[in-house]
This record gives sequence, structure tokens and C-alpha cells, in this order.
Amino acid sequence: MHIDIITVQPDLLKSPFEHSIMKRAQDKGLLVVEIHHLRKRAVNEYGQIDDYQYGGGAGMVMMCKPLANAIEALQKEKIYDDIIYLTPDGQTLNQKIANSLSLKNNLLMICGHYKGIDERIREKYITKEISIGDYVLSGGELAAAVLVDTIGRLIPGVLGDETSALTDSFQDDLLAPPVYTRPVDWNGMKVPDVLMSGDHKKIEDWRYEQSVQRTKERRPDLLG
Ligand code: ADE
Repeated sequence: MHIDIITVQPDLLKSPFEHSIMKRAQDKGLLVVEIHHLRKRAVNEYGQIDDYQYGGGAGMVMMCKPLANAIEALQKEKIYDDIIYLTPDGQTLNQKIANSLSLKNNLLMICGHYKGIDERIREKYITKEISIGDYVLSGGELAAAVLVDTIGRLIPGVLGDETSALTDSFQDDLLAPPVYTRPVDWNGMKVPDVLMSGDHKKIEDWRYEQSVQRTKERRPDLLG
């Protein structure tokens, strides 16, 4: 999968993809992430990419021309399955959206700043608008990093154990069950016997029950 990201804060996006599973995905050649600095498309020598909003009001709006030029230059090289704008008024990200995006080949993500991007760019180019939650970030970069991470780990071959993404929370609309590692007895707190029984069917049933119970308690909305 190839993911291009257009941003005015490229440095914010450096570290998230240089570690752990995202690094492994790139090292294995399963994921390519390319950051494109919007300032390179500025309308003047001062690096301007935003302007005051029509109608008045506080906050700048990212202009059409730099964004359109950046998007169209990238479209000359690739056909995108989706052009995604990260925005608090988008569709709230969930595991289903991540699953479906993980099957795509080419994605372009646009990070907004200030008051956001000119509405005409949304109308003309954007095919999906995604929010990572009901709160406002200073820009779309951290949201893009979250989106790339959640998609990237689902790309077949990225996780060593192919089944491990399938047992994540939310994959069956259930939260994941509790997990334990050594020692068996930690300051008097013991690992449930069933996990050491060696009976795989029993363990699977226990985990499922725990998942259902946890989901009932913490996220009853997921159970529909
Ligand atoms: N940009 C600012 N806030 C955001 C959010 N919650 N999700 C996605 N992009 C954003």
C-alpha cells in the first residue's frame, strides 16, 4: 500500500512511522508512506497557503490553489482509491473503516490546519472525510498518524502472527479479553486457572465470555 500525506507540518509526521510495526511494514515493503510539504505549493515567496475567511471571523482557511496543485501533481503519478480529509466533522473512525481501507492500494490523506480547508477542495477532490473522535486537534497530522497506524497493521503480512489483528478489540464488535503473562502468581494475584489448563476449546470459550462481559460493562453500544 502506498499512502501520500499532504501537510504543512511535515516534522509532526516523521516519528510515528519510524518505529515498531509501522517501521516493520515499511521495511518489508508492504507500506510506503510519503509526506508532501504543502508550503512547496505556496502562492507567494512568503510561503502563503492560507488566507482570511470570507464573511469574517477568527481563523485562517487553507487556500484552494496550493491544495489543488499538490493533489493534481500526485494524481498524475497515481490513481487513488480514496482521497481522505482528516477533519473533526468527518465520519468517526472505527475498526470497520480501518478494515476496508487496509484493502486499498493507494491513499492520499490531507491534513487540515487553522479553520480547515476551503470547502471547494472538499467538493472537488475529497472522497472520504474521517474524524478520529469528537474532539478538536490543532491539525490533521496526529489524526493522519492514527489512521495510517490502524490501517497499516491490518495490511496482510504486516503483523507476524496473521491472526493477531483478528483477535484485537472491535474486530467482532467486541472488546478484547484480559491477557496475562508470567509469573502465575504476582503478589497473590493469580492468573485464571483456565488459561493454564491446556484445553484450547475451554480457553477460547472463556475468552469469548470475557469479551462479551467486558463489552456489556464498558461499551454496551457495541452489542447493538
Ligand atoms: N483535525 C482536527 N481535529 C480532528 C479530529 N478529531 N479528527 C480528524 N482530524 C482532525
